[in-house]
Amino acid sequence: MTHELKRISTRIGSIAESATLKVDGKAKALQAAGRPVISFAAGEPDFATPEHIVEAALEAVRDPRNYRYTPAAGLPELREAIAAKTLRDSGLAVEPSQVIVTNGGKQAVYQSFQALLDPGDEVLVPTPYWTTYPEVIKLAGGVQVDVFAGSDQGYLVTVEQLEAARTERTKVLLFVSPSNPTGAVYSPEQTREIGEWAEANGLWVITDEIYQNLTYEGVRAVSIVDAVPALADRTILVNGVAKTYAMTGWRLGWMVGPADAIKGAANLQSHLSSNVSNISQRAAIAALNGPQDAALAMRDAFDRRRQVIVAELNKIPGMVTPTPQGAFYVYPDVSGLLGRTWNGVTPTTSLELADLILDQAEVAAVPGEAFGPSGYLRFSYALGDDALLEGVQRLQRLFA
Ligand SMILES: Cc1ncc(COP(=O)(O)O)c(C=O)c1O
Repeated sequence: MTHELKRISTRIGSIAESATLKVDGKAKALQAAGRPVISFAAGEPDFATPEHIVEAALEAVRDPRNYRYTPAAGLPELREAIAAKTLRDSGLAVEPSQVIVTNGGKQAVYQSFQALLDPGDEVLVPTPYWTTYPEVIKLAGGVQVDVFAGSDQGYLVTVEQLEAARTERTKVLLFVSPSNPTGAVYSPEQTREIGEWAEANGLWVITDEIYQNLTYEGVRAVSIVDAVPALADRTILVNGVAKTYAMTGWRLGWMVGPADAIKGAANLQSHLSSNVSNISQRAAIAALNGPQDAALAMRDAFDRRRQVIVAELNKIPGMVTPTPQGAFYVYPDVSGLLGRTWNGVTPTTSLELADLILDQAEVAAVPGEAFGPSGYLRFSYALGDDALLEGVQRLQRLFA
C-alpha cells in the first residue's frame, strides 16, 4: 500500500489566516486604491513610539555590543526590568531567570501553550476570544473549550460557567483582562473567585496581560496571581510593550512563569528564533525603566476616544455597545441589525454586515466570527479623533 504524501502538512494546512489582519489588509488595499475607507480594524495604537524610547534604540544601533547574538532568553538588564515590572503591575515577585523575552506577546502565547499542552489536553477559553488563541492551541495539540459570555453579562464569564465546562482533561484556563476583542475587565473580586477556582482544581493559568496598563475610570486590572498568590507555581504571564508604548512594530514581548515551564519554553525559543533584536530589547529597557508620562498621555487619548465611540455607537438603533473599561476596543452586539434590509442588502451574519458597512459606508470593522459567535463587530478606537467621529457618523447615516 502506498502512502499518499501531502504537499503541505495537515497541521499547517489547518491554520486559518488571521481574520483581523485580513480585514485590515482589505481596508488598506482599498485606501491604496484611493477609496476614503476609515478602518477600525487594526489592533494597534496610531501614535508614534515615545521619543526617549526611539533615542535609546538609536544609541543601541551605534553600539557594537548589539551586533551579535545575545542570550536567547533575553538581555539580562531587560529580564531584570521585566521582573521589576511584573512585581509593580502584577504583584508577583520573580527572578529574572523566570523571564523570557519574545518576539512580541504573540510568540509568548505560542510558547506558553507549547510548553503546557499534550495532545488532547483541554483549554478553557472565555469567548469572545482573540483570534490567535484557537490556532495556537490547535498547533500545540490542545482542545479548545469555549465558555461564552455575551453582552448581557458584560462579556465576563462566571465560575459556574467555567465549572460546567471543566472535565478531567482540562489542563489550562486562559485568562485575559482587559480583553481583546471586548475591552472587558474582571473586577478584583471576580478575578479572585476565578483564580481560587482554578487553584482548587489544579489548573494551569495562562494570563494574557498585554492590555494591563490600558484601563480607564480608575479601574485596575488585577493580575490573577496577585489576587491568588498560590497560583504562581502554575501560572504563565504574557505581556509586552506593543500596546502600552505604541511599539507594535518593534516586536517585543515576554513570558514569565515557574522555572520548569520557562526552561522548556526557552529551549524551544533557542531553536525557533533565538534572541529578539537587541535594538528592540534596548528600546524596551527604556520603555519600562524610563518616564511613563508619554504612555499615560496615550492612555488619556484612548479614554477620550472610548467615550466618544461608545456614546455615538449607542445612538444607532439595533447596536448595543457596552462601555469597556480597558484595551482600545468596543464590541457592540449587532444582532438587532441583522435580517433587515439596507440599500437592497440583507445581512444575516456579522460577517455579511462587516462587508455591507465596508461597501456602503467605507468603514472597516472586524466581524464577531473572528472571535467566536456571529452577531458582533469589533471596533478599535486606536485611530485619530476626527477619523473616528467621521467613521461613526457614516454608520449613523447608513443605519438611520
Ligand atoms: C490579547 C492579545 N495578546 C497578545 C497580543 C500580541 O501582541 P504583540 O505580539 O504585538 O506583542 C495581542 C495583539 O493584538 C493581543 O490582542
